[in-house]
Amino acid sequence: MILPRPTLPLLFLTVLTAGAVDFKKDIEPILEKNCYECHSEKNKKRKGGFVFDELETFKLDIADNDVAQIRPGKPAESHFLEVIVNPDHDRHMPPDDQLSSGDIKKLTEWITEGASFEKNDGTKPMVAAAPKKDLPPIMSWTNLEGKTIRAGFVRLDGENVVLRMPANGAEVPYPLAKLSPESVKQAQESGAP
Ligand code: HEC
Repeated sequence: MILPRPTLPLLFLTVLTAGAVDFKKDIEPILEKNCYECHSEKNKKRKGGFVFDELETFKLDIADNDVAQIRPGKPAESHFLEVIVNPDHDRHMPPDDQLSSGDIKKLTEWITEGASFEKNDGTKPMVAAAPKKDLPPIMSWTNLEGKTIRAGFVRLDGENVVLRMPANGAEVPYPLAKLSPESVKQAQESGAP
């Protein structure tokens, strides 16, 4: 199959001249049409552990750290975009298809503008910084994809462990179901009274 190969530098140039992207209006329809088939809470499809229609879960993949799929404001460092843009990637998405350059442009703009689910007025940061108090020690956590997350333990919260990201102090709920058995144990031990 011959796929068009969009060039990244060109893409980013076009982005500079674009207006604000709205998640509901511009991004959700692209994901719904091309991704929900395999990445949807509603359809009970969580390929690779990713769902894009349940925003609380999707949000966990958006953060400014090395393991997040989407780094707000940094499209070139967002793995999510790389697998869509690069047709030769091992895990190219969608697996048997290629998004149009228009759709890729919109997704790139959305990430460039901060990857927010809010109606974007360009001013709202995604994560509020946590107040400075007794900071939890930083530990290593491993998720089911084998990626390591360096973060402090804050508390257990239902199905999630709340982790404190050292880079920006954000407290992020991370699903226990996405962690390795060792890290689940570490969370439970850290949360034990
Ligand atoms: C036909 C099913 C299918 C569709 C449609 C699909 N995906 Fe996937 N996706 C998968 C599977 C399966 C994996 C896990 C791949 C693996 O781990 O080898 C995956 C993994 C991923 C990953 C992680 C890749 C990595 O390197 O770990 C991302 C990001 C992703 N998908 C995004 C998307 C996006 C965005 C769309 C829509 C534009 C999409 N996917 C459409 C099946 C699909």
